[in-house]
Parts: sequence; structure tokens; C-alpha cells
Amino acid sequence: MNFTKNILCIGAGYVGGPTMAIIALKCPEYKVTVVDINEDRITSWNSDNLPIYEPGLLQAVQAARGTNLFFSTAISEGIRAADIIFVSVNTPTKTFGLGAGMASDLQYWEKTAHQIVMHSDQSKIIVEKSTLPVRTAEAMERILSENKKDIHFEVISNPEFLAEGSAVNDLLEPDRVLIGSQQTESGRQAAQAIVDIYAHWVPLEKIITTNLWSAELSKLVANAFLAQRISSINAISALCEKTDADVAEISFAVGSDRRIGSRFISASIGFGGSCFKKDILNLVYICRSYGLNEVADYWEWVIKMNEYQQERFVKKMIKEMFNTIVGKKIALLGFAFKANTGDTRESPGIYVAKKLLEEKADLVICDLQAQDNARKDLAGFDGRVCFEPDPYRAIEGAHAIAVITEWDLFTKLDFKKIFTMMEKPAFIFDGRNILDHQRLFQIGFNVFPLGKPSLTHF
Ligand code: NAD
Ligand code: UDX
Repeated sequence: MNFTKNILCIGAGYVGGPTMAIIALKCPEYKVTVVDINEDRITSWNSDNLPIYEPGLLQAVQAARGTNLFFSTAISEGIRAADIIFVSVNTPTKTFGLGAGMASDLQYWEKTAHQIVMHSDQSKIIVEKSTLPVRTAEAMERILSENKKDIHFEVISNPEFLAEGSAVNDLLEPDRVLIGSQQTESGRQAAQAIVDIYAHWVPLEKIITTNLWSAELSKLVANAFLAQRISSINAISALCEKTDADVAEISFAVGSDRRIGSRFISASIGFGGSCFKKDILNLVYICRSYGLNEVADYWEWVIKMNEYQQERFVKKMIKEMFNTIVGKKIALLGFAFKANTGDTRESPGIYVAKKLLEEKADLVICDLQAQDNARKDLAGFDGRVCFEPDPYRAIEGAHAIAVITEWDLFTKLDFKKIFTMMEKPAFIFDGRNILDHQRLFQIGFNVFPLGKPSLTHF
């Protein structure tokens, strides 16, 4: 088949894979190729055992793969053939040197810029899909313009707002698509080429075009605002536990104000995921680099509050279990950073598990999708931690249960049966407030919800 355009995506991860699958599905006249240096990932994308778990993703990939969607490790060939290149490589927090622990590590991103220059022999549009510090496009343009081939690269920022666990739906029905470009003739033309892609299925009024820097910074700000809401309600959950107020009632009452809204104000054990912490740290670093220390401090507290919430959860567990958990079996229900994903990056489960293991508890981790990642996260604790996908087997003989991830499955368990299988007194610490606390108390459990009065038999 003759395709009207060749689209390439460099980086076949949580963003590159799903985004390109949907573009291919919705734009049959474009050829979409996704490349990666990681051969195992590409092999998985070419199989029915995809490298990431996302509801609906396998069906979307199967519908387009081999027709106009291709996964490959042939990066230089891909670059040569492409009209438009999306760069969706990882941009983790730097772990070394200047800005360690705060700034974005741009080494993968910079490598791709050099690869693009090396293998291109015609002008192309380069799209920043990765989340990047504001004004990164400037550096990208500098690297790309250092070519002796008399070809032009127009850089566009098109940050991705999908959330894991709902990626396919978020891509099919986005709240908005953001496209930033230089405010020049060639910049506007390139932006239009990207608008044309999304216009295949996204209503035009939801496609926002801005200048490059606004698009780059909007992505960091959106994540900072979302995380700030969670830290705000989590801060209030601590106050609720001192005052017998109920944080769920507060979320409902406060969120009923349409100016505030009901989403992203559910108290939790803390936010996890690969984006929130990394992007706020990056925002803080950028603010400090411009001397905006008060602004930096303001945003940094969103992260500090998140760490406090995780710490508070573990301290409460230890205190309520009579200040010692040595040799006690504790079942962690869930390990992924949220439901409907197997991703455990920055999951509060990692912090909780490590702290409980330091206190010499014996852990069982129960998560249907995140077992493999959990094993990697807890490598080195062999013998003290085991992994059991069946919740009943995981809980058998346990002193306590801690809910880490809000998997629907956990709300449907037979807790009467579970109570008979546990050591007494039996404890439940609900880090997601998803269980029926009154009912559990009536069965005989000592129940410790988040931001609500504890229900105990002693
Ligand atoms: P990821 O780690 O899952 O995937 C990145 C991929 O890029 C990896 O497979 C890696 O092998 C590949 N890669 C790195 N350097 C390469 C190179 N030179 N050539 C070819 N491939 C290369 O990361 P992700 O979660 O998909 O995130 C990608 C970007 O999108 C990040 O900037 C992230 O902040 C942003 N983002 C992520 C999400 C999310 O939910 N995960 C949402 C929105 C935005
Ligand atoms: C986030 C942004 O939502 C998305 O727009 C961006 O593109 C990537 O980062 P993601 O991290 O995949 O997406 O998941 P999200 O649904 O935002 O949840 C992040 C964390 O916040 C999870 O640990 C979740 O459990 C937690 N959370 C969310 C709460 O604790 N309370 C809430 O009310 C909502």
C-alpha cells in the first residue's frame, strides 16, 4: 500500500507504544513505525504478550499491526524514511552530577537528536512527546541545525497527558491535545501537520495550539496541579484522624463545589507513578535555576507531603500492631502504583514494603499484574518476602493486611472466610479506603482506614 506519510516514534514505552497504536488505528493512510534500542521490548510489541498491561491495548495493536503499524529496532532506517518523528524516550530524574535528584536526565533525549541529524537526508518535523524542561526545544533546535546537509528540522512540542491504566481511553477521548510551535511560518505549518493527525478523531476545539514554551511548561504544570490536589487531601486526612472527621465525606463535600471538582481528591497512601514526582522535581529545579526560590519551595512541599503520607501509613501500622512486627506475616494487597497497570515505578508499595522488611516483618505481595516488577523492586530481600497472586493464599496465616493498590478484585473478597484464616487479633490497614470498614469491623477485624476513625475491638 502507498502511504501518504511516514511517522516514526523513537521510544516504544508506556507512551510511545499506546500513542502510536491509536494514531495508526485512526490514520490508516499513514505508516507508523515505532523503534527502540531495547530488542526485548520490540519483540514483545510484535507478540501478543505486550511489554505493558493496559486495558484495550492488545486489541488496538492487533487491529493495526502489520497493516500500518510496525515495531522495529532499525532506528537509522526509520529516521531516514520518516516525515515526522515523535521522540518519546525516557527522561528520568538525574541520579548524578549537577542537579542530581532534581533535574531531568536528558541523555537519552540528546542521543536521539544526534541520531536524527546523522541519519536524515531530508527536512523533517521533530515532535517532543517526552516530558521535558521548558525551553528544551531550543537546545533540540541547536543540535538539529548543526547539520551540514542544508536540511531543516522544525521542532514541535506535543506533550502526552495519558494516564496509565486508562491510556487507550485517554488517547481515544482526550480532554485536549496540546501542540506548541515556533510562531513562524514554518513553525505554524509544522504544527498544522500535527493537528492534521489528531483531527482524524479529536474534535478541533479540543486541539490547542500554543507557542513552544507554553506547551512544554503546561505539561509540568498539569502534573504539578494534579499531584498538589492529592497532597492537599492527604494532608487533611492526617487532621481527620486526629479529629474524627471523615476524609471521604470531606472530599465529597468539598468536591461538590464545581469550582473545585470531585476528581483527584481521593485520600491515599500517596501518589506514585513515573511522572508526578519526577516532573515536580524538575519544575522545582527549573524555578531554583531562575532564582525563584519561594516558587520552588511551594511546589517542593507537594512531594514532601507525599513522603509524609507514606511514612505516616507505615508508622501507624507498626504502632497499632503493638510497636513490633518482628516475624509477623503481613499481606500487601496490590503493589502497582495504581489499579489497572502492572507499573510499579515510584509506587508507595515499594516504600511501605522496604520499611516493613526493615522492621523484620515477613511479607507476601499479591498483585495480578505487578508481580514481576515487584520482584525486581524487592530484589535482595529473598526469603523474607514472597509473591502470591491468589489473595486467599497470600492472606492465609497473616497478622495484618495492608491495601496498597485499589484493584477492584480486593473489594470483592470473602472477608468472613479471610478472617477465619488469619492470626488474631486481625488487622486491616486500608491505604486506599476501598473496603467496607463497618462490615469488616463487625466480622471481627481491627480496621484502620485513612483519614477516618479507627474501628478497633480493644
Ligand atoms: P519508558 O521508559 O516506558 O519508555 C522509553 C523508551 O525509550 C524505552 O523503551 C527506551 O529503551 C527507549 N529509548 C531510550 N533511548 C532511546 C534511543 N536513543 N533510541 C531508541 N529508543 C530509546 O518511558 P515512558 O513511560 O513511555 O515515558 C516516555 C516519556 O513520556 C517521558 O518523558 C515521560 O515523562 C513522558 N510521559 C509518560 C507518561 C506515562 O504515563 N508513563 C505519561 C505522559 C508522559
Ligand atoms: C499522571 C497524569 O494523570 C497524566 O495526565 C500524565 O500524563 C502522567 O501522569 P499516571 O501517573 O499514569 O498519570 O496516573 P494518575 O491517574 O495520575 O495517578 C497518579 C497517582 O496518584 C497514583 O498513584 C494514584 O493512585 C494517585 N491518586 C490519584 C491518588 O492518590 N488520589 C487521587 O485522587 C488520584
